[in-house]
Amino acid sequence: MEFSSYILHWYHNEHRDFPWRATKNVYKIWLSEIILQQTRTSQGLSYYTKFTDIFPTLKDLAITKEEKVLKLWQGLGYYSRARNLHTTAKHIHYNLEGVFPNNYEELLKLKGVGPYTAAAISSICFNEKRAAIDGNVYRILARVFDIHTAINSTKGIKIFQKLANSLICETNPGDYNQGLMDLGATICTPKKPDCNNCPLNSICIARSKKIITKLPIKIKATKVKERYLNYFCIEHKGQFLMNKREGDDIWKNLYDFPLKELHVPNNNNSTHDKKITKDIIGGNSFSIKKSVKYKHKLSHQKLNITIHHIITNQAPRENNYIKISQKQALELPVPKPIEKFFQELFNPIPLDNER
Ligand code: ADE
Repeated sequence: MEFSSYILHWYHNEHRDFPWRATKNVYKIWLSEIILQQTRTSQGLSYYTKFTDIFPTLKDLAITKEEKVLKLWQGLGYYSRARNLHTTAKHIHYNLEGVFPNNYEELLKLKGVGPYTAAAISSICFNEKRAAIDGNVYRILARVFDIHTAINSTKGIKIFQKLANSLICETNPGDYNQGLMDLGATICTPKKPDCNNCPLNSICIARSKKIITKLPIKIKATKVKERYLNYFCIEHKGQFLMNKREGDDIWKNLYDFPLKELHVPNNNNSTHDKKITKDIIGGNSFSIKKSVKYKHKLSHQKLNITIHHIITNQAPRENNYIKISQKQALELPVPKPIEKFFQELFNPIPLDNER
């Protein structure tokens, strides 16, 4: 039996039921694929439901404000995906007369759509024979065909691409691609693969050599950078000073507080913190109510965040900041740690004796 027949047969019996699998609507498939980039299906599912409920058509998404998209995206991370999602919806609606591209090459031109996503969409919606190669596929191919070249080396990428192209299913590439995704997510998992229930167990070389968990080989990623972000949440008469982040970074267009980045951990240097607060407010009349610490992990960065909650009765210099009410604070798109901070501030968990 051919490799693709094992996958297709298994997929038709064992596939996971997801709402995006009940449609071939390219807008919805595109939405699902953008949401599922770097995200587990268990986490992406509720976002897919929310987005398709609130924006049932491409036009609904295109004509909405970016702020609303970012707010709905909150908690999913990698916010450039949400910004690109919205840019692409507007591009298709306004420049392409609302007609979604219907092949791999044209899909690839869309912002936020790379080779994997273009292959997934074109195979699922248009039956195009394109191999969608992600971490799952690298793992399955490395094991079944006993490939020891690093999957993230230039040579490795070429080898795996060539192999994946040669294996692609002729009759139903969409189900085949999704079959590999499911197999990688449920059976051929990184740590404890369930080889007894794997449809490929009779042809898997790594299994016969008992080296399954040694593969795939990956060159170690660059070191994770530690950053120390010192935030100043200035509250004046129930309003907060905030700033819409610009520049090309992970939190672009989200709102945050005045920020001072440090090169070393924040060791509760209150003299230093007071001086910065004084500069922001433009006076001495304030008190630092509390300082809360959060840790936030990103793919290549570990953020050590301190948020100082400062109360002042002096109208602060506004500079580049805007004043935000409690209601707005809960509506605006903000980074995850600031969302947590607001939740704790506005809905403090009662102490046992207050319940
Ligand atoms: N991950 C990325 N695309 C997916 C899909 N269509 N089904 C399940 N997991 C996925």
